[in-house]
Amino acid sequence: MNRDPNKSPVILVTGASRGIGAGTARALAARGVRLALLARSGEALKALAGELPTEVLTGTLDVTDQEATARFVQETMERFGRLDALINNAAVLGPTGPVSETDLAGWRRAVEVNLLAPLALTRAALGALRESQGRLIQVSTGAAVQPLPHFGAYCATKAALTQLARVLALEEPSVTTLCFSPGVVDTGMQEEIRREAAPRMPHPWGRFFLDLPRQGGLQSPESVGLTLAWLALEAPREWSGQMVDGSDEKLCKKAEAWARG
Ligand SMILES: NC(=O)c1ccc[n+]([C@@H]2O[C@H](COP(=O)([O-])OP(=O)(O)OC[C@H]3O[C@@H](n4cnc5c(N)ncnc54)[C@H](OP(=O)(O)O)[C@@H]3O)[C@@H](O)[C@H]2O)c1
Repeated sequence: MNRDPNKSPVILVTGASRGIGAGTARALAARGVRLALLARSGEALKALAGELPTEVLTGTLDVTDQEATARFVQETMERFGRLDALINNAAVLGPTGPVSETDLAGWRRAVEVNLLAPLALTRAALGALRESQGRLIQVSTGAAVQPLPHFGAYCATKAALTQLARVLALEEPSVTTLCFSPGVVDTGMQEEIRREAAPRMPHPWGRFFLDLPRQGGLQSPESVGLTLAWLALEAPREWSGQMVDGSDEKLCKKAEAWARG
C-alpha cells in the first residue's frame, strides 16, 4: 500500500461508533487508510477518530437521512479527492418477535435503516467508486439466508440487501461488490439479542444465542474488523457478487497474515 498519506486509500464506513464498524475502522487506520466515519453517536465517533493514526472525517448523522448522507459522501470527496471503498455496516436488529405481533412502524424503520439507507449511500458513492475501480461491501448476515424465528424484519431486510448486492455486481463491472456475513460477534447487537429477543425465542434458537458467551462462540469485533478491512482493500475482482463468510478460517488467516505485513 502507498504510505504517502496524501495518496493512501480512502474508505467510508457507516455504523462506526462501536462494534464491527469501529473494529474495521481501527484495522483500516492501522494500514494507513484515511477514513470517513458515520454514525449518530458523535462523541463516540470523535473519541475513535482521536485514537486513530490517520486522517479521519466524521459525520454525526442518521443513515436514513438521505440528504445528509449524500452530503457526507460529497464532503468526503472534497476532503480527500477519492473514495476506494464504501462499507455499509450500520443496521438495526429490531423489531424482534413473531411476525404476527411486530408492528409495521418498526418494520418500516428496519427497511429504512437496513435496506434504503445502504441503497441511497451506494447511489451517492457509485460515481467515485467507478472512478477508483473500488469496492462496495454490504454487511449482511447468515440470517439473510437462514430463517430465524422472531427475526422477521432483520432476515427480510438483510436478504433484500444481499440480493441488491448481487444485482449491483452484474450492473457495475468496474466496482467489486460483496456481501459480508460476519458470523456471531461480541457487540451491542448480540447483547440486544440476549436481552430482548432470545428469552422469547422458541427452542433451540433462544438457548443458542444465550449460551454463546459461555461457550466461547463469539468472535471479537477486532478480528472480524480485520477481515472486513482486508476485503475492502484486497478482495479479488472475481469475488464480486459473492457472500463472504467472516468466520471462514482460511479467510481469517489470510487477513491476519496481511496485517502482520
Ligand atoms: N454482531 C453480530 O453477531 C452480527 C452478526 C451478523 C451480522 N452483523 C451485522 O454487522 C453490522 C454491525 O453490527 P454490530 O454487531 O457491530 O452492531 P452494533 O454494535 O449494534 O452497532 C451498530 C452500529 O450501527 C450504527 N447505527 C445503527 N442505526 C443507525 C442509524 N440509523 N444511523 C447511523 N448509524 C446507525 C450504530 O451507531 P449509532 O447508534 O451511534 O448511530 C453502531 O455504530 C450490522 O450490519 C449487523 O447486521 C452483526
